[in-house]
Amino acid sequence: AVKAAGNAFDFTPIDVATDFDIHVPEGYQWKPLVRWGDALFSDANGAYSAETGVDLAMSERVFGENTDGMELFEVNGKEVIAVNSEYVNPKINLPSDADGTPRTADEVKLLQNLQGVTVMEVAASNEGYRIVQDSPLNRRIHHNTQMTMDGPAAGSLLVQTTADPEGMSPIGTMNNCGSGRTLWGTYLTCEENFNGYFGATGEEPASAGNERYGIGAEGRYAYEKFDARFDIANEPNEPHRHGWITEIDPSDPNSTPVKHTALGRFKHENAAMVQATDGRVVVYMGDDERGEFLYRYVSNGTYTEGGDTSALLSDGVLSVAKFNDDQTGEWLDLTPETTGMSAEEILVFARMAGSAVGATTMDRPEWVAVNPTRVEAYCALTNNKNRGVKANAGGDETPVGGPNPRETNRYGQIVRWTPVDEDHTASTFAWDLYVMAGNPTVYDNEYGGSENITEGNMFNSPDGMIFDTKGMLWIQTDGDYKNEGDFEGMGNNQMLVGDTQTGEIARFLTAPYGAEVTGLCWSADLKTMFVGIQHPGGSWPDGEGKPRSSVISVWREDGQTIG
Ligand code: FEO
Ligand code: CA
Ligand code: CA
Ligand code: CA
Repeated sequence: AVKAAGNAFDFTPIDVATDFDIHVPEGYQWKPLVRWGDALFSDANGAYSAETGVDLAMSERVFGENTDGMELFEVNGKEVIAVNSEYVNPKINLPSDADGTPRTADEVKLLQNLQGVTVMEVAASNEGYRIVQDSPLNRRIHHNTQMTMDGPAAGSLLVQTTADPEGMSPIGTMNNCGSGRTLWGTYLTCEENFNGYFGATGEEPASAGNERYGIGAEGRYAYEKFDARFDIANEPNEPHRHGWITEIDPSDPNSTPVKHTALGRFKHENAAMVQATDGRVVVYMGDDERGEFLYRYVSNGTYTEGGDTSALLSDGVLSVAKFNDDQTGEWLDLTPETTGMSAEEILVFARMAGSAVGATTMDRPEWVAVNPTRVEAYCALTNNKNRGVKANAGGDETPVGGPNPRETNRYGQIVRWTPVDEDHTASTFAWDLYVMAGNPTVYDNEYGGSENITEGNMFNSPDGMIFDTKGMLWIQTDGDYKNEGDFEGMGNNQMLVGDTQTGEIARFLTAPYGAEVTGLCWSADLKTMFVGIQHPGGSWPDGEGKPRSSVISVWREDGQTIG
């Protein structure tokens, strides 16, 4: 059993699973909180059909597909979860005679409406947590929701379009992956693979930025054929309006989400905010692509409770990490002097700015988590199966070295850094690897993993990472679930918990076959944990019909806290 010092929980770690169900330790229970297609408003009750999914008419009134990062907020005594729906499976959402490609503008709109963000009130009941239908706080934010933007790139030539010549009013947030929360109680949704929504019906505009960001002629969902905004032959700047950190106020359903250009444009995984000792706001962010970078934003102003927060995410310094082989590292500021780029270019093309200063190419930086009990932070480097093969044109070489020590990185690792002087704004840090995932039953070399990996806790591709209030690190995986070859004995994707002081890691939950585990938050009383299950296989959780991505509740039978 795991017993963490000062922690209220202890449990017997569970075995791997290969079935289409959820498993949690003895003494714990789980049930779905909300599934793709479940009604947020009572007029959408019955909108979901096991045969056809959800129709366009009700697609803004239900929970979206493919849940990802989430955070729980307390708003005037109510509990509100803001949660991402990262992407859609067209074959599951579109009529069964479609081949997975939308054939009409309405089919495109259906897919657009089922992604983005859901804000929903939840409440405890005799049967556990449930969503509060028709709560005035319930809200869907998707690919057609009006946004605004701030920071140095807002209003610049690079973000102006025909529909928005001022470059201040983008529409939609998309590919909402991981999450973050501000010190002032708002939600941060992180736009990751936004590139996939754009295509060209005519001649593709030449842009070095498009190559580096993977934007090309062929969109993933054929949006460009039915919605001119997504046609880069028509609107070459529209992709520049996506790939940002977007702030949503969960307490005000009429608020306009804000895209913060000061935090840079890349394939954002999540945003881990922490306050530095001098009061400034620090945000750590990963760019999830092979050979891309780890970033840090430091505000110029300081945060005080109840004070003006309006400039804290629009006025600051963006930096990128350089890791040295001697386990030291530094944050390299991205400025016109260091990059030779304009202030707007640095933000819109942050990847190129990072290359200009010599940032360290990483093995796909996914979630960053800041320890609430120590001055240190962690980033999941999920894997890098194709070292040397650049993900996009214009990227840098990706040599073995520093926190990316293995040639073919099938399993992933978690890097930890400690800023000097216990100051998150410091320009230098020390780093080590908290864990190197691996398979010690197949390999007795570096592919067997670090010392804290055993036959009993093997996993691959760490992705989601969230600290609980006690300083325990919850690790969620998005990896190979075939349970064979290099991955034999690892089973389905899973959630583990790590004691970062002892190094111990224990398996807590296994996902249904096919799914990844992503997104984690807690009820206000810490007695219920909410866990996201994305792209499940089979007919989970209903047992028949289509698979439904869901958020589940997990709790202890004895009613003790679990976070
Ligand atoms: Fe959406 Fe990098 O995970
Ligand atoms: Ca992820
Ligand atoms: Ca992943
Ligand atoms: Ca995913």
